[in-house]
Amino acid sequence: MRLQLSTWPEVETYLTQSKGVIIPVGSTEQHGPTGFIGTDALCPEILAYGLSEQRQAAGKPVMIAPTLSIGMAQHHLGFAGSVTLRPSTMMAMVQDVVNSLAKHGFERFFFLNGHGGNIATLNAAFSEIYAEHSLGRAGDNRPPVRCTLVNWFECDSVMQISAETFGDDDGAHATCGEVSLTYFGFQKDAARVKGAEMTPGRAGDGPIFDCDDYRRRFPDGRIGSDPRKATIEAGELLYNAAIEEIGRRYDAFVAAG
Ligand code: NI
Repeated sequence: MRLQLSTWPEVETYLTQSKGVIIPVGSTEQHGPTGFIGTDALCPEILAYGLSEQRQAAGKPVMIAPTLSIGMAQHHLGFAGSVTLRPSTMMAMVQDVVNSLAKHGFERFFFLNGHGGNIATLNAAFSEIYAEHSLGRAGDNRPPVRCTLVNWFECDSVMQISAETFGDDDGAHATCGEVSLTYFGFQKDAARVKGAEMTPGRAGDGPIFDCDDYRRRFPDGRIGSDPRKATIEAGELLYNAAIEEIGRRYDAFVAAG
């Protein structure tokens, strides 16, 4: 059940059955010569929509909020097309989204994240939301909200499939796993980009600092990965496993006392 494709009376009816919402969150940043710039936002969105479709068919709708598709990407700005927020901007955005939905009665916010660089900022935003409630609304009868962060790429099943399928070639950025999932989700576009040349096959590893340093160390944008191994078939395996695990974790989060 996508918020953007719902009417307001449908949202009101949903809130009589559930106070939970999934918010996909990602980034808009280069993913090497063969990965989409939207990879980190597309992955959680593909999974959230997939879970939603399954639940809709089973008569147990799960609300999916619009994807927060721009995040923390300052170190990718040396590559065309990358877009970043400042941490303070992202925290403000997350707070405004949560407070807007909380006003209507949503209480459990399940952030499904596709970008490691967002983790610190999302957790800081959650702390701001809790502090605002604790400090500013003492005596308020509104129930406190809860936020949780699940990184799809850290699901046990995802890590296991990635390790078995790609081994060390999965890498740290523009990973075989995330590129595979987007190839599964967008097969025509995958056919367009997947043949680009990459030298060396597997990119080097190392630390990153600012965007100029990143471009110097990792000239084609990848870190430690060989995304020539990304396939639609691997993406489908990851899709099915991740949806199952994310669904279980979402249910437990919403049901927790
Ligand atoms: Ni990524």
